[in-house]
Amino acid sequence: MSRIEIIQGDITRQAVDAIVNAANCSLLGGGGVDGAIHRAAGPELLAECRTLHGCETGKAKITKGYRLPARYVIHTPGPIWRGGTHGEPELLASCYRSCLELAAENGCKTVDFPSISTGVYAFPLNRAAPIAIRTIGAFLEAHPEIERVRMVCFDYRTKAVYEAALGEWMKK
Ligand code: APR
Repeated sequence: MSRIEIIQGDITRQAVDAIVNAANCSLLGGGGVDGAIHRAAGPELLAECRTLHGCETGKAKITKGYRLPARYVIHTPGPIWRGGTHGEPELLASCYRSCLELAAENGCKTVDFPSISTGVYAFPLNRAAPIAIRTIGAFLEAHPEIERVRMVCFDYRTKAVYEAALGEWMKK
């Protein structure tokens, strides 16, 4: 039984220990999943984010979940795709690793991720998915305390690409 799962759904509705927000460096909200999470969490989320004074790309910061069913929100600014030769792959891997490190430090056993950087930030989905799955898989091998990580995909195409990436990784 894999501890990594791929589902299609709305991450704001997931009752897990932590959901990850594909944020920007200001941590002050935006569109996409960032906007959806802030709308669902309510104004207290932004109020707490204001106290964090931003976050570097590839790093992560944690807040409460407020009106969300999730206990925590882990905010991480993904890399903006600029052709792939500006460290984007390494920064994307760092997003997943930083979020999981924070989740483990805060006793989270279930963590849900959106597909970081593959929306507005234009990271090619077929390159982002293997990076995400490999990074999550390696982290889980070293951290049995985290019971399950899910990729919560907002559309069918995204789900299919992550399922393929997971299938490839499981073969190894
Ligand atoms: N649940 C799950 N996934 C979602 C949801 C949702 N409610 N809403 C959007 N998504 C998906 C998108 O379809 C995409 O697959 O999240 C993925 C990431 O897309 P974006 O939200 O555009 O995030 P990203 O590409 O990382 O760009 C971040 O966009 O919203 C702004 O403030 C944010 O500046 C930052 C930038």
